[in-house]
Amino acid sequence: MQKIILTGDRPTGRLHVGHYVGSLRRRVELQNSGEFDKIFIMIADAQALTDNFDNPEKVRQNIIEVALDYLSAGLDPAKTNILIQSQIAELTELTFYYMNLVTVSRLQRNPTVKSEIQMRNFETSIPVGFFCYPISQAADITAFKATTVPVGEDQLPMLEQCREIVHKFNTIYDEVLVEPEALLPDNEACMRLPGTDGKAKMSKSLGNCIYLSETADEVRKKIMSMYTDPLHLQVSDPGHLEGNTVFTYLDAFCKPEHFGLFLPEYADLDELKAHYQRGGLGDVKVKKFLNNILQAELEPIRARRKEYEKDIAGVYDILKAGTEKAREAAAETLSDVKKAMRIDYFEDMNLIAEQSERFRNKSE
Ligand code: TRP
Repeated sequence: MQKIILTGDRPTGRLHVGHYVGSLRRRVELQNSGEFDKIFIMIADAQALTDNFDNPEKVRQNIIEVALDYLSAGLDPAKTNILIQSQIAELTELTFYYMNLVTVSRLQRNPTVKSEIQMRNFETSIPVGFFCYPISQAADITAFKATTVPVGEDQLPMLEQCREIVHKFNTIYDEVLVEPEALLPDNEACMRLPGTDGKAKMSKSLGNCIYLSETADEVRKKIMSMYTDPLHLQVSDPGHLEGNTVFTYLDAFCKPEHFGLFLPEYADLDELKAHYQRGGLGDVKVKKFLNNILQAELEPIRARRKEYEKDIAGVYDILKAGTEKAREAAAETLSDVKKAMRIDYFEDMNLIAEQSERFRNKSE
């Protein structure tokens, strides 16, 4: 069986370092590993519209932002198809058929949908499109026969729902769909990178995100004002690591070679942490170290972005080519699905003969 990746993001804003360590960095590694036969990365604009239907301009503007973030993070259009969800009608068609395989109460139990309903104050009147987006996401995944879906933890209920749909479809109709596996970030810090203010959720309105497209100066300022340990008032005080954003970011970004490069007086992160806990290590020093690491990681991304920004028409060409390729794959799956569901009337060469026979027998 082919190994196929599908994943994606809603284009509702620029991507930040949480997206990067939570999924984007991994996608680039997987792309470059050469282990996958096909890779599809989706800009999920139709899904973004399920809760931004009154603000289509926001979605439209952010498609190019997300595309630039993808390309500058290292997704290579020669190896990876970047596609725009809404331009593949087959996905909508699959969604409609999958709706038959899901109950309202099952959707209501989906923890991610549940918390999003609360967040958006949809409790009293949930838009049907929004309510059904997990089904549409199952269409996204299965249309490309994806085996591997690199996502954050919050997407696990979507994967679970998708697997149920696949199982039900294959049982009722025919073994057409592939059950996907989620691929989670490999460390806890990457799974849930907090905002720079220490709040669990990064959000544009809180101003606590570091974006991939930010200048070196903006990044440095955000790091230097990061939330640390409120009890660590003087350098000599013992410091705490729990809830200390700077150390959480180090857990997500720091690699062994960074010590040789930027902080040779420590052997590794454990040693740095131990010193901080003992007391005698100031926040500024740790923040400067984090800044060096982050700048080293973000600099090549910024440089690539600059190049791509010079040729925006070229970026749209990349999206168009990726979407066309993806559409071919989705069309193939849809054709298999319709055949299995016995709704392939004009493609089934035997249908007319069979029906003719049936009516001939009836009239005899
Ligand atoms: N729900 C994902 C998010 O909010 C985006 C998404 C849409 C997706 N379709 C997908 C992720 C399919 C993985 C697979 O970021």
